[in-house]
Amino acid sequence: MAGIKDAMNKGNGRVEIKGWVYRERKSNKFIFLVIRDSDDIIQCVVKRDSVSDKIWNATEKILVESSVVLKGEIKEDSRAPTGFEISVSDLEVVHYAEDFPINKDPSPEYLLDIRHLSLRTRKITAVMKIRSTVFGAIHEYYRKLGYYEYQSPSLISNPAEGGSSLFEVKYFDKKMFLTQTWQLYAEAGIFALEKIYTLAPSFRAEKSKTARHLTEYWHAEVEAAWMDLNGLQDLAEGLIKHIVFKVLEVNKKELEILGRDYRDLEPTANKGFPRITYDQALKLLKEKFDFEIEWGKDLRTIEEDKLSSLYDTPVIITRYPKEVKAFYMKQDPENSKVVLCFDLIGPEGYGELIGASQREESIDELKAKLKKEGEDPKKYEWYLDTRKYGSVPHSGFGMGVERVVSWICKLDSIKDAIAFPRTIYRVLP
Ligand code: 4AD
Ligand code: MG
Repeated sequence: MAGIKDAMNKGNGRVEIKGWVYRERKSNKFIFLVIRDSDDIIQCVVKRDSVSDKIWNATEKILVESSVVLKGEIKEDSRAPTGFEISVSDLEVVHYAEDFPINKDPSPEYLLDIRHLSLRTRKITAVMKIRSTVFGAIHEYYRKLGYYEYQSPSLISNPAEGGSSLFEVKYFDKKMFLTQTWQLYAEAGIFALEKIYTLAPSFRAEKSKTARHLTEYWHAEVEAAWMDLNGLQDLAEGLIKHIVFKVLEVNKKELEILGRDYRDLEPTANKGFPRITYDQALKLLKEKFDFEIEWGKDLRTIEEDKLSSLYDTPVIITRYPKEVKAFYMKQDPENSKVVLCFDLIGPEGYGELIGASQREESIDELKAKLKKEGEDPKKYEWYLDTRKYGSVPHSGFGMGVERVVSWICKLDSIKDAIAFPRTIYRVLP
């Protein structure tokens, strides 16, 4: 074992650690090195008169990010950044780093330009650990509930979320698209497996440059036979709660590194989420913010943000006007103007985390709506087949994982919620 965490757990005596130089400060009697590994950082001191000339000379040449293996005596030291210090007796430089290009006040754009290096910063490392917890929690949640993990193709012929955000792919002498959602394939899958989920990349040719949009994002999607809109809201609320619960259990230290007060997340783990209709949302916007929204218009970012400011948990908004939602959403039998859908809006202005609906079963309705969207229903024959052989009520949703990570970590931009973000302007590294 040669981890900083192991060494600090031991607390005294001889230890060995492997890592990278996080900070260095040199004088002619002492060299202070703060070493970092994936778990933590620790202060180490190399004293001129307690190491050989060879070690001293080697240490003197060390620059930040050099990789080292060192041995020494660990003891508690309240002045050290993490409460312990290693007095070094042996040190091997595995690789001398060149001058590391991240200096005192790097701009966010510069850090993105060198993401292959800025991944190592404490901030991004903390986000990546939380992200890992989030992925684990999603699998855990669905598997506990008896859902099967199921995969859909990434190359598709039938768009499901509208043509404007499709990426075209040259496919031999044909044209295909990168998937925006697994949904149409998931709807076929439920007739075999009933309850399925996936965690996979989705692609959207988003031209907008916002803090919420990536062109490639990880999509946690679920589809279930026999489920209605109420069951679906419970499922979505349970998922978000489980994720937050897990992060609170595992990642308090990372939240602190990010300056995120974990107490702000506790209501989400502990309280029921408010559930309101689109109509009630318009009323609230009028009453509380004097926003006059014409019935039938989709809610924009600003309106979602205002609504989210009324709550300390996510809020679920149901039954949007049919015209602003996707073709596959089921018309409300009690009101033909709206569909049985919901958006789950994150707290603190993090926007739509989940898009959800019960699915339309009527082939005629589906065909009519496809036509209205400019699609040729003939190309969707295989999908419409799923309504011909034992059709059942069914529902599902998709959650943008980076949106959730962004909110949990309270990030300024979604680009820091993924290791190598893709946006309209950013394709490297
Ligand atoms: O609301 P959307 O478009 O819903 C669907 O794709 C459904 N077919 C899902 C389903 O029912 N299986 O997208 C779902 C979620 C959004 O709520 C948002 O969190 C995220 O995907 N999302 C994005 N995240 C990052 N960057 C983008 N460009 C995103 N577009 C959508
Ligand atoms: Mg949506």
